Amino acid sequence: MPNAIVPGSFDPITNGHVDIIERAAHQFEHVTVAVAINSAKTSLFTLDERVRMVEDVCKPLPNVSIGTFTGLLVVYAQERGATAIVKGLRAVSDFEYELQMALMNRRLCPAVETVFMMTGAEYSYLSSSVVKEIARLGGSVEGLVPDIVARRLREQVGYAGR
Ligand code: PNS
Repeated sequence: MPNAIVPGSFDPITNGHVDIIERAAHQFEHVTVAVAINSAKTSLFTLDERVRMVEDVCKPLPNVSIGTFTGLLVVYAQERGATAIVKGLRAVSDFEYELQMALMNRRLCPAVETVFMMTGAEYSYLSSSVVKEIARLGGSVEGLVPDIVARRLREQVGYAGR
């Protein structure tokens, strides 16, 4: 079984991400969750905070480790000995962007295959952006993110939900 990368901004990690990471961990010998360092993107949480939350959430998964990357994802995948990039697909709206990235990544490095997993139906409408908006506006994010993330969101934006 090859090794895989699950990349993302994870600002913050949601239950949709966790679902994909857990399923990838069943399919691959080793999974690296790769947290993107993207200075062009404004994030709610710092890189350290995002990594710490991912580490906390992935602690029970023995074949999952966490890394950070900047630059090309396929280069990082090769550095980590991964031959697969695992992405979750939520809806048709994700497809066009993901297809473009998958084809570009294959052009850059044919040895690294992009593998898509359909997101769990219960997470098909979930994204980090929506979670942050709900939290900012005082709604509950219970069930959408791991408890530790809900706590961190509460500290960060002071939302009223549980
Ligand atoms: O969680 P996100 O923000 O949707 O994750 C996007 C991410 C980090 C996976 C994507 O932006 C990415 O792969 N960045 C690395 C840059 C890269 O390799 N670009 C060339 C492929 S088109």
